[in-house]
Amino acid sequence: MYRSHTCGELRIEDVNKEVTLAGWVQTVRKFGSITFVDLRDRYGITQLLFNEEFNKNLDNEPIGREYVIQVIGKVLERSNKNNKIPTGEVEIEVTSFKILNKSAVPPFTIEEDTDGGEELLMKYRYLDLRRAPLQRSMFLRHKVNRAVRSYLDNAGFIEIETPYLIKSTPEGARDFIVPSSMNKGQFYALPQSPQTFKQLLMVSGYDKYYQIVKCFRDEALRADRQPEFTQIDCEMSFVEQEDIIQAFEELTKYVLKEVNNLEIAGAMPRMTWEEAMRDYGNDKPDIRFEMKIANCKVSNTVNCKALEGLDFKVFNDAESILAIAVEGCEDYTRKQIDELTEWVKRPQIGMSGMIYMKCNADGTYKSSIDKFLDDERKQQLAEFCNAKPGDIVFILAGGEDLTRKAISELRLEMGKRLGLRNPNDYKPLWVIDFPLLEHDEEEGRWVARHHPFTSPKKEHLELLGQPDKYGEIKAYAYDLVINGTEIGGGSIRIHERDVQEKMFAALGMDKEEANERFGFLLGAFEYGAPPHGGIAFGFDRLCSLLGGKESIRDFIAFPKNNAGRDMMIDAPSKVDASQLDDLSISVLEPKKNN
Ligand code: AMO
Repeated sequence: MYRSHTCGELRIEDVNKEVTLAGWVQTVRKFGSITFVDLRDRYGITQLLFNEEFNKNLDNEPIGREYVIQVIGKVLERSNKNNKIPTGEVEIEVTSFKILNKSAVPPFTIEEDTDGGEELLMKYRYLDLRRAPLQRSMFLRHKVNRAVRSYLDNAGFIEIETPYLIKSTPEGARDFIVPSSMNKGQFYALPQSPQTFKQLLMVSGYDKYYQIVKCFRDEALRADRQPEFTQIDCEMSFVEQEDIIQAFEELTKYVLKEVNNLEIAGAMPRMTWEEAMRDYGNDKPDIRFEMKIANCKVSNTVNCKALEGLDFKVFNDAESILAIAVEGCEDYTRKQIDELTEWVKRPQIGMSGMIYMKCNADGTYKSSIDKFLDDERKQQLAEFCNAKPGDIVFILAGGEDLTRKAISELRLEMGKRLGLRNPNDYKPLWVIDFPLLEHDEEEGRWVARHHPFTSPKKEHLELLGQPDKYGEIKAYAYDLVINGTEIGGGSIRIHERDVQEKMFAALGMDKEEANERFGFLLGAFEYGAPPHGGIAFGFDRLCSLLGGKESIRDFIAFPKNNAGRDMMIDAPSKVDASQLDDLSISVLEPKKNN
């Protein structure tokens, strides 16, 4: 027997018991003739006491950090109790010990906080995973997984695995492709999602499918994006948008309750995509705080009286003028305003400047464009922006998309600076009525906003053949957003061959291409495809949200870095020439800008 108890188990009631523990040495502290060792495993830390006699043994056989040892000893009540850990009232007086395995000196401290830098932690991920914060993350992930499965199982869903070696499924990113020696010159694509397979399962009659599944996307990475990530992927037949929203709203509530003991009261709010863009400047609004955007001028149309007929070039030249009123910040100093102005001028935001107007407590106003705005206009502007005495109004003016993105970022930044984005405050909402298509300016063509299998709303179906109306078509598509993060997205699907063909045509695919790429799906639609729809949640994102952290990396045992590299196993890497030969592949020099 290696151990009778774990390192997190012993309490005051166990005093005088003889126990055997095994674990990793976290710290060794010598005090004259006695030594204290903190012994760690994933359950906790227990203090060991090596008294005089054993101290001598330690001199003969020294133990260091991260050694794996086994000790036998007696549980004693500690004279100097540590109330920060559950085992803090006891210690083990060692009567025999054995080194099970030595350890090299670890490259960083393996404690609650570490001194290791990002790269080192990634390279020695297996050591970082020994630390309590990561163990908490892994355990939380396990709990989320268990809660999701339990809810879906009770609701009658069955988990069915779908293949990883497939043909491209368009979710908007680049595919990872896999060569095959049996089919030289041909490639599989790793799934960006199981989208087409889950739809085929609906055609097969499995009307409630789910899968906790890996997805692969070769795209630019961020804190909430990994090249391989996990989805809670679902599909249902004989459902409308409302049925899916209801089912997954309940799932979300169940998981929040099971994992974090959080109650979300009442129905989650819903917002149309247009409202979200108008009031928050993006399609995943953080509604933990208000600070709605005032649309003073949009697409060259002035909406705010204060700006009508104004002789101010910056405003006249701007396609859009958007503002936010920030509560209680009228006392912002010149320095603070200058610093924020530099913030919006950073390349990531890209504005050329920022205008402000202070709404003084005494009802007067002070702005950076007093020359152009008389008192009446200032009052009108304050009213339009919903600004009260004591607030400051920040105004951005410029190109439409740029300005909307910038004001949205500024709003989030101000929310952060004012402490309005508390990670323990969960504010979910559904964003609905997304556009079906969006125009890709670079490629000069229409692309699917969600994916090509999303159904247009019934009343917009007929617009699918009219290119000048494409921008007006709304879809049965919905996203679940929590605290400014898109946790999940889904849609009701097209289930009729002719509609799907029209959709492919709208995306610029001729019949031949549509058949080559998606003939299997179009074919399946001829054999009694039921009406169906579904959704996928980002599992890693849900975990990081519940764990109160921004990066999903902390919730993935072996993640990639921002360049998509696994620093531990050093992948991707070159392969042997013979492997390439077997596949009839030759590698070109990478292009300079890749
Ligand atoms: P979508 O592309 O919106 O939809 O993905 C669903 C959810 O997956 C998460 N997600 C990611 N998480 C981490 N890293 C990434 N690179 C990443 N990309 C997406 C997000 C997102 O909301 N097949 C459709 C779903 C459907 O229509 O049923 C799909 O994949 O949380």
